[in-house]
Amino acid sequence: MQKRDQIYEGKAKILYTTDSPDHIIQYFKDDATAFNAAKKGTIQDKGVMNNKISSRIFEFLQSQGIETHFEKMLGDREMLVKRVQIVPLEVIIRNKAAGSLCRLLGLKEGLALACPVLEFCFKEDKLNDPMINEYHIRALKFASEQELETMKKYAFKINELMSKFFLKLNLELIDFKLEFGRFKGKIILADEISPDTCRLWEVGTGKKLDKDRFRQDLGNIAEAYQEVLSRVTK
Ligand code: TMP
Repeated sequence: MQKRDQIYEGKAKILYTTDSPDHIIQYFKDDATAFNAAKKGTIQDKGVMNNKISSRIFEFLQSQGIETHFEKMLGDREMLVKRVQIVPLEVIIRNKAAGSLCRLLGLKEGLALACPVLEFCFKEDKLNDPMINEYHIRALKFASEQELETMKKYAFKINELMSKFFLKLNLELIDFKLEFGRFKGKIILADEISPDTCRLWEVGTGKKLDKDRFRQDLGNIAEAYQEVLSRVTK
């Protein structure tokens, strides 16, 4: 499938149309941003690694009955996906406290949560993707009641599936962010799942193998992504 016109350029990906009206190409860049692009940099070959990691995880989720936009990998940095209408929400699941939850509630990083926490953020860069709740989603019609239920059900199921998947690779899934889209009337999983969008800690050592290495200037960033790639494709 050939790339045609650029539709959109985001912080980590560029989207292109294809010959098929139902498909687009996601091109993964090496650009990295954090704190709503207040911090910017590049991570060598991040785009290649995230494309491969994300493809592997979408394949796994698909094999477990989760519908995703993933069709196939087209090249090192390119993924063919279904053309969805993105729901303007970030759906976050947390198993242990980290990142913005620690800042919000003054928690110690790594605190175990008694049950998984689901959060919604409104995807709007100029507002800094503010956290919202289900009432905002209903009141502002960001998603229908049925779509909301589907996204919640999927998010918890994906947490169970991915937590087990990563644990087998000696990685603990601390938290992650999902985006969903509408395709022919149905809600399906979209965007990417990678060390940009998940926190992954090595079991035993607690070593961070995700974008927190960039956010917190921990060094060996590309090596951490490579480590995740090696484990998920082994
Ligand atoms: P947070 O602790 O910064 O809210 O992040 C929670 C999870 O969501 C973490 O795994 C990183 C991911 N995330 C994104 O994928 N994109 C974002 O814009 C943000 C803020 C977080």
